[in-house]
Amino acid sequence: MKLLIRNAYVITVTGTEFVGDIAVDGARISHVGPTGSVPEGFEPDETIDATAKAATPGLVNCHTHAAMTLFRGYADDLPLMEWLTQKVWPIEAKLTGDDIYWGSLLAGLEMLKSGTTTFADQYFEMDRVAQAVEEIGLRASLCRGLIGVAPRADQVLAESLEFVRAWHGAAGGRITAMLGPHAPYTCPPAYLEKVLAAADELGVGLHIHLAETRTEIEQIKQEYGCSPIELMERINLFERPVLAAHCVHLSETDIEILARRGVGVAHNPQSNMKLGSGIAPVARMLAAGVNVGIGTDGAASNNDLNMVEEMRTAALLQKVALEDPTVLPAGRALEMATVGGARALGLDGEIGTLEMGKRADIVLWNLNQAHLSPAHNLQAHLVYSASRADVDTVIVNGRVLMRDRRVLTVDEERVLREAGRCARRLVSAVSSA
Ligand code: NI
Repeated sequence: MKLLIRNAYVITVTGTEFVGDIAVDGARISHVGPTGSVPEGFEPDETIDATAKAATPGLVNCHTHAAMTLFRGYADDLPLMEWLTQKVWPIEAKLTGDDIYWGSLLAGLEMLKSGTTTFADQYFEMDRVAQAVEEIGLRASLCRGLIGVAPRADQVLAESLEFVRAWHGAAGGRITAMLGPHAPYTCPPAYLEKVLAAADELGVGLHIHLAETRTEIEQIKQEYGCSPIELMERINLFERPVLAAHCVHLSETDIEILARRGVGVAHNPQSNMKLGSGIAPVARMLAAGVNVGIGTDGAASNNDLNMVEEMRTAALLQKVALEDPTVLPAGRALEMATVGGARALGLDGEIGTLEMGKRADIVLWNLNQAHLSPAHNLQAHLVYSASRADVDTVIVNGRVLMRDRRVLTVDEERVLREAGRCARRLVSAVSSA
């Protein structure tokens, strides 16, 4: 399948911006350049006229728990531990594979409609998440959440290895897998060492929550006499590629370790705000050379999976925290939400920018609207003015998944209906327990 996107405002996220054309051959971008520059002889099966549209790389949601969309609005405005122990864990205990499949499709639908083409997910019943990803057509980095202090911890790790072997590189390369130790306070060092050995054997990375709350920092300090980041450094966790979610409370030493070890950080500003966790020192991390991407976290703590809004929140939050409007400018926020995220997932060789040879994960934005006019600075528009409803067309791996806001891969009404059914059953199962 050959696809030609004509006359778009192309924002490559490599530093160039022009009105031009993008040629897609199979799953990859075969040409990107000014209007009329597509090599002669390229005969597209389909041409999209992108006049008055911006073309950007797809957004990368670096950290979420997709199926938690079923709990959107179910438990809000509670302290973190009460939220987890009284609300989230009891209802999660009732989840079936069917729930996780429909919850993940609901998440996928929401992400697709808001310009996210890749997401990093940590949850359970990951075969069902992978099935949802395969069907909807998105790209995802998936891992089973591992709780080292749980009774079946070793068995779950063994299952996790099976999952990696079955799905890493599946769905035409759209699905990659990692191992997902939940956090240092649920996975003691001895267990993390087992996970690390398994990751070494499989040649995959790790996706972990790190330094999210002050309580975590105090608990780890009390138990091990150091910060969570220092503890991970001590057990050599960072010898493997690591995607670290949150990193809210960091010392200068922590930041130095993250930079030196090339750890990818998933910054989740809205989740951190909603749970009252704090403000991650993103500007300091970026200045130190840490690679930072952006994530939404799960819908129970956000409450949506909207990377367009998340990008804006990331930029605004640093400015207000530092009382400095020059930190995290729009172009930098867009970079974090695309190529920064791709790098954090170890996928920047394949996605994250619009360049020849990369996978064709492309979003077209409808610019012909009052809130995006006039077109002084399109990157600023996408970060400070755009909404997810401006996402018009989404292409992943060379395949059009949504055209003119119409989703082509799944039946939207059915996903809403089935996810609603699962959510109602879960709530009644918890209340009758
Ligand atoms: Ni999380």
